[in-house]
Amino acid sequence: MQTVTAFLPDEAATDALGTALARALVRGLVIYLHGDLGAGKTALTRALLRAAGHQGTVKSPTYTLSEPYTVVLDGAPVNVIHYDLYRMSSPEEFLDAGFREDFDGDNICIVEWPEKGEPVLPQPDLHITLHVAGLGREVELQPLSPLGLLCLDRLNFRPTLPNLPPR
Ligand SMILES: Nc1ncnc2c1ncn2[C@@H]1O[C@H](COP(=O)(O)OP(=O)(O)O)[C@@H](O)[C@H]1O
Ligand SMILES: [Mg+2]
Repeated sequence: MQTVTAFLPDEAATDALGTALARALVRGLVIYLHGDLGAGKTALTRALLRAAGHQGTVKSPTYTLSEPYTVVLDGAPVNVIHYDLYRMSSPEEFLDAGFREDFDGDNICIVEWPEKGEPVLPQPDLHITLHVAGLGREVELQPLSPLGLLCLDRLNFRPTLPNLPPR
């Protein structure tokens, strides 16, 4: 399936992508967020949640592992659950916490460090990978299912040109 890549020169560009993703969201979507510490996974999720209408703070779920939000999508409430599995000690912890039941085809699940949830973590519809690239970030969006493809088709994101250094 098609892969979309873009350069995000600064945090405003990450915010713009999060906003575009919020408008392209589909019920039941599962997103895996890949990238090193500091790549911008939480920043992207925060921008997405704010653009989706969440007004409070968006904390990194570093210790709680999961943080639920409710936003309105197409006129009806939907849960968006943000995970950070970095500190999860074993896949059993994922099952014991009841996280698997969250992936019910209706909730939107966004997962940082999905590698830590293998092999019990349900499959994603969309992979988003962030890499540090100079002062900015490179992002790759790869759909893995019809739902992921639908989201990517709806994504109306025009990356801004990088700020070129003065000559
Ligand atoms: N496109 C970008 N260019 C430069 N810095 C960025 C960009 N997007 C986000 N950042 C910065 O990178 C850091 C990302 O942190 P965070 O989102 O917590 O990373 P992660 O969740 O991947 O560990 C933040 O300090 C944020 O301001
Ligand atoms: Mg994070």
